[in-house]
Amino acid sequence: MFFDRVHEPTEVLDLDEGRLLLSRATNGDKVAVAKVDGEYYAVKDRCVHLGCSLAKARIEGATITCHCHGSQYDVRTGELLRGPATHGVDSYAVLVDGETVSIEPAARREAV
Ligand code: FES
Repeated sequence: MFFDRVHEPTEVLDLDEGRLLLSRATNGDKVAVAKVDGEYYAVKDRCVHLGCSLAKARIEGATITCHCHGSQYDVRTGELLRGPATHGVDSYAVLVDGETVSIEPAARREAV
């Protein structure tokens, strides 16, 4: 299924706002990537509730809503906004240098 294809990190450059893309970080983790206000963000592609793919979630602004049971996260930070999940999801840094993109594990950041 197209949905499940793991896209090359460089494909995030074609990503429109309001969509999520399944890709892979440099450490091998599957990640869900989004573009918000012209910046790219990524979180682990595994809802911390029961593990549904967050690349299949809905996204409005920076809020992603898991399609399984409705947990919400801020895609910019991985912060949990609404349960049933009980904590946030790992976030990653999306580094863009011209046509080169790498998605790196990042320390969890608190929302500002
Ligand atoms: S698996 Fe995501 S809310 Fe349950």
